[in-house]
Amino acid sequence: ADGSLSGGLSGQHGRLPPSPLKIAPFFYPTPCACLAARRTRQRDTMTLLQLLNQRISAALAAAGCPDASPILQTASRPEFGDYQANGIMAAAKAKKTNPRALAEQVIAQLDLAGIASKIEIAGPGFINIHLDPVFLAGKVSAALASPSLGIEPQSPRQKVIVDYSSPNLAKEMHVGHLRSSIIGDALVRVLAAIGHDTIRCNHVGDWGTQFGMLTAYLVESDNQDAGLALNDLEDFYRKAKIRFDEDAAFADRARDYVVRLQSGDAEVLALWKQFVDVSLTHCEAVYRKLGVSLTRADARGESAYNADLPVIVRELREKGLLAEDDGAQVVFLEEFRNQDGDPMGVIIQKKDGGYLYTTTDLGAVRYRCRELGVDRVLYVVDARQSQHFQQVFTLCRKAGFAPENVQLQHIGFGTMMGEDGKPFKTRSGGTVKLIDLLDEAEERAFQLVSEKNPDLDDATRRRVALAVGIGAVKYADLSKNRNSDYIFNWDQMLAFEGNTAPYLQYAYTRVASLFRKAGEHDANAPVQIDAAEEKALAVALAQFNDVLYHVADEGYPHFLCQYLYQVSTLFMRFYEACPVLKSEGAVRASRLQLARLTAATLKTGLDLLGIEVLEAM
Ligand code: ARG
Repeated sequence: ADGSLSGGLSGQHGRLPPSPLKIAPFFYPTPCACLAARRTRQRDTMTLLQLLNQRISAALAAAGCPDASPILQTASRPEFGDYQANGIMAAAKAKKTNPRALAEQVIAQLDLAGIASKIEIAGPGFINIHLDPVFLAGKVSAALASPSLGIEPQSPRQKVIVDYSSPNLAKEMHVGHLRSSIIGDALVRVLAAIGHDTIRCNHVGDWGTQFGMLTAYLVESDNQDAGLALNDLEDFYRKAKIRFDEDAAFADRARDYVVRLQSGDAEVLALWKQFVDVSLTHCEAVYRKLGVSLTRADARGESAYNADLPVIVRELREKGLLAEDDGAQVVFLEEFRNQDGDPMGVIIQKKDGGYLYTTTDLGAVRYRCRELGVDRVLYVVDARQSQHFQQVFTLCRKAGFAPENVQLQHIGFGTMMGEDGKPFKTRSGGTVKLIDLLDEAEERAFQLVSEKNPDLDDATRRRVALAVGIGAVKYADLSKNRNSDYIFNWDQMLAFEGNTAPYLQYAYTRVASLFRKAGEHDANAPVQIDAAEEKALAVALAQFNDVLYHVADEGYPHFLCQYLYQVSTLFMRFYEACPVLKSEGAVRASRLQLARLTAATLKTGLDLLGIEVLEAM
């Protein structure tokens, strides 16, 4: 442990740039007559990767390959420099020329003055780029001086809607909702941080036949206070279901309520509304504890599209897409085949006139494109719904609900497993309420913090436990490739070593304590990069912006986790190799600057993942 909670990096010095969530509005560069001026401005607003790509593309064009791509990546080994361009071989092949000779021509044309200190050819025609320490020092200073930590708005700016969390309101949120809630929240935060116009959407399941049963039971239970009756939603649902299964008269009443609900009967609607409200309050409690930024205003449930459903059917019919199959209205999609190899039928309206999950999703796409005018829609939903979304997307293109230029993407994810390798359940095999899981995380973290730091007062330990416990659960999930299933393991996620939240949170407190011990220092001190460890850290810090773009483009929060883990590791190495407090003068001041940007990057990065940092723990 590292001392008290008072003071610390942002508290004491107050010079840390604010979170990029509050970056200035997107800046549209105005056309500029002076080319030189434009070039410097562009260089300032380009990310490192964009800058290198632009320069290498220009050199490739000058060497007679205007269409070739540099295929730039970070160097695979330190001796290869910081970046390597792998695109020369393919360009040479297309031009039927010798790759090494082409690489020489490209290098001859390559203008990286003030950016790279060494450029060399390796192997069959890779170009290795060693960044100039002076350039890197400038990057560190610029990031520290910028209110957004040097994060540039991504261009073009898009209106992006992220559909996430989206539980069904009939029941309480359970562990199955964890992944969508936290992955979606991380993505929407990153998108906003890089300047996109973001809309959070909680597409809650607030409609369907089970609401007939639930409202019927609400009426029947003596308790007139819905809030009290629904205190335990799970229990309420179970009891209603028992009544439904055991009592035919009750079941009839429930069905009658469904009909009345669907026909807009005011009395039943009011009951349903009460139910939805209480249920959303349960969700909000979970979001608050989990640090998920969804609010009630973001909830736009399935019921919001009720009026559109007949219109959807009509429009599909007008487009000639609809067929009748056994009384139901169906679209047959050539793109999807059933087991017999026939085009798959997607039911739009059932024989009894009822609509389906798919129909509602068509309505939602149509609304988002026409009313909201979005450029991109992300659906953060379990991978098992993959076919559903592929069908919805295909249908929307055919029906014209979504223009071709609107990106529709399913951000799928695997299942959270228990130690037994089966979907995570309670010991008795029941579903685990999300709130219970979060309480347990906090409790376990409290035990841990109490063991490690028994001297901290109770309130402080509680506070640390909340940040560490919730952080651990979130980070364990976000740090894995979302496409895979993963095994939920308390000990692993709460470990202070390895790629975990506690490790990163602890790394942050290490830097924070450095500042407490440093006392007065110059926040505008120049940065100088000499040692290899300083350079490695500076290179990583200069990549933050590119990492955020990458996360936003691909929809993978684990890229950001990997990055933050790398930054902490590089910081620890720097800290061991390069004395900070024991050095003097300009060196000391410069090293403090590197530490300050490290702290700000960790804090901002974790904040984008929805994870809190502490000044001490
Ligand atoms: N409520 C759905 C479920 O629990 C998820 C909804 C996802 N979003 C959507 N637009 N379909 O499975």
